Amino acid sequence: MLWIKALHIVFVTSWFAGLFYLPRIFVNLAMVPQDSHAERERLLLMAHKLYRFMTLLMVPALGFGLWLWLYYGIGRGSGNGWLHAKLALVIGLVGYHHVCRRLLREFEQLNNRRSHTWYRWFNEAPVVALLLVVLLVVVKPF
Ligand code: HEM
Repeated sequence: MLWIKALHIVFVTSWFAGLFYLPRIFVNLAMVPQDSHAERERLLLMAHKLYRFMTLLMVPALGFGLWLWLYYGIGRGSGNGWLHAKLALVIGLVGYHHVCRRLLREFEQLNNRRSHTWYRWFNEAPVVALLLVVLLVVVKPF
């Protein structure tokens, strides 16, 4: 079980590297001047590769989490509200991941309508989610 938990933490951490960095690339993309084609292409290529890679990392991160829950029974049964609260946050994070794909498509189609400030705020969401999830799994307040 400890091996599975260790792998869960490794993949979650790696997935989050992408969730933190991809919106940061969006901030830069939103600041690229209209005529800087080379800069935009380079950032788009980076964002595209990062998105593909973080999607590959998300799958085992969630898979190992489900394994701990459903096979080893950690968080099952009554008195485990923390696991359900965590799952709600995880669903939000998967949604955030997919919103990132939509935003990337908009940049690729030269169709971005949001400011770099908006992306800076958007970038904060996974920080808050990570803080809450770690508090839930470690402190298990309910
Ligand atoms: C399908 C999604 C997920 C499920 C079902 C799941 C389930 C679990 C379970 C049952 C544990 C063991 C808790 C314990 O030993 O007390 C665990 C550990 C952990 N999970 Fe998840 N998890 C999922 C996704 C995530 C995500 C997205 C994050 C990060 C935001 C995360 C962060 C952690 C951390 C940091 C631990 C280690 C806690 C410790 O050992 O004290 N998990 N997870």
